[in-house]
Amino acid sequence: GKVHHHKFVIRSAPFTRLCSSKNILTVNGQFPGPTLKAHRGDTLVVKVYNQANYNLTIHWHGSNQVRNPWSDGPGYITQCPIKPGNMFKQIINLSTEEGTIWWHAHQGWARATVHGAFIIYPKRGHTYPFPKPHAEVPIILGEWWKEDVMEVPNVANITGRQPNTSDAYTINGQPGYLYPCSKKDTFKMNVDYGKTYLLRIINAVMEEEIFFAIANHKLTLVGKDGLYLKPIKTDYIMITPGQSMDILLEANQRSLGHYFMAARPYFSVDGARFDNTTTTALLVYNNSHKHHKKSPILPNLPPYNNTQASTIFTKKFRSLATKTHPINVPKKVDTHLLFTFSVNLLNCTHDKPCNGPFGMRFSASVNNVSLVHPANIDFLSAYYYKVPGVFEMDFPKKPKREFNYTADELPEYVLGTSPGTKVLVLEYDASVELILQGTNVLASDNHPIHLHGYTFYVVGSGFGNFDPKQDPKNYNLIDPPQETTVGLPKNGWVAIRFKANNPGMWLLHCHIERHASWGMNMVFLVKDGPTPQTQMIPPPKDLPKC
Ligand code: C2O
Ligand code: CU
Repeated sequence: GKVHHHKFVIRSAPFTRLCSSKNILTVNGQFPGPTLKAHRGDTLVVKVYNQANYNLTIHWHGSNQVRNPWSDGPGYITQCPIKPGNMFKQIINLSTEEGTIWWHAHQGWARATVHGAFIIYPKRGHTYPFPKPHAEVPIILGEWWKEDVMEVPNVANITGRQPNTSDAYTINGQPGYLYPCSKKDTFKMNVDYGKTYLLRIINAVMEEEIFFAIANHKLTLVGKDGLYLKPIKTDYIMITPGQSMDILLEANQRSLGHYFMAARPYFSVDGARFDNTTTTALLVYNNSHKHHKKSPILPNLPPYNNTQASTIFTKKFRSLATKTHPINVPKKVDTHLLFTFSVNLLNCTHDKPCNGPFGMRFSASVNNVSLVHPANIDFLSAYYYKVPGVFEMDFPKKPKREFNYTADELPEYVLGTSPGTKVLVLEYDASVELILQGTNVLASDNHPIHLHGYTFYVVGSGFGNFDPKQDPKNYNLIDPPQETTVGLPKNGWVAIRFKANNPGMWLLHCHIERHASWGMNMVFLVKDGPTPQTQMIPPPKDLPKC
């Protein structure tokens, strides 16, 4: 493959949205940031310069970073943050992924504005498993905050309450028609009648799952998270934070000349506090000016709380599972794991006073452990250099006590959580089955769960408690979808499988930012294999220190 060199300069830059101007963190002064393009088999070398006033890192979301966890990016997990004024050279080998992934900051809430698309074409000389589209367009779903988004988690941390929500959703950085002072800058996508386009849609929103649709147009989903799917024809998509989707769009309408594409949240919890406004962009047909006098129409998006619409869509995902795009789902499992995901409450303490719900503070956990980062070193360096006292290796393989996870009344002890620096050790090449179990603790939100370093197979899912006797009988081991971020439904479960053949330290976390900030993260330590080709590479010389 080819080697591509890029320079990412993280710096603040002025932008005007919603009738006022402010400085935001950007890469190279762009919002959304630059689009990376490469072919499968290529390598990217990205020099990341931090010219901002915060400690920052960049993560290549959906890239497996085979044997190279050092370039993965989550702060204090695989590297210390890059300090202001410093540079870190990250190397991304695109060996397994093909389609759309993305990149984003992975420290504090910087990813709100520091993110961009990452497009991986087929290997040179190979083609898509669908007819070549006339053109390709990244569609990044994001947000705009009137306040300084870097302060949002700090304020929430002091009060112990929910963080503030954003002031607008955006499509390619623009709130669109329906927001104040935003109409004329609405993002426009021009199309020729009769042509097919590939939309590379990314949900970079911090907190909400999103419904997206285009008026009068059918969408065909052909890929997700940097891997292909069997084509699915649909009127709308539901995309969780962290996910990316490849959508074919046939420009086969001409009566109106222009049409809205629109996005707004899907929220599983009734009465929950969120922003239910709609962001829009325009699909504009070339050479049909005479029609433009008519106002464009909005698509029919499912109501915000339509869990059925969400489930019907996500249940359709299937891998291609063909000769050219084979799958390799572990048929036998040697490592069984069950993780519960909960939003919890912790007592306010003397040294950390707060004033959250019931006079307590929000927290969140995996198997009732809230991940705490070390302060002076990253987990991966501590492991590599055998620095003692940084983490324990006893992350629980299942909940300490079994309980009815999705019952209305929950035992008292599941409300609490304990802060910890625990990692879960996996032997090299272990065949892992991990049940993600949502609980009914507090709000019982959906959780988009993202695993670094791996693409996993989603072999089953359902509502209620996972039933180890019955549910495995219905697993799909023929063509399960491969994903890197999976939506865990409210009060439901998802079964994923993967081969632990990528050594390193890999973060698993909820991609709802407040949940991650509250501790809904855990770390896998995957051991080296027996041969040099199955071991992680040594750290780069310029790996940032704390
Ligand atoms: Cu999209 Cu851990 O990240
Ligand atoms: Cu969550």
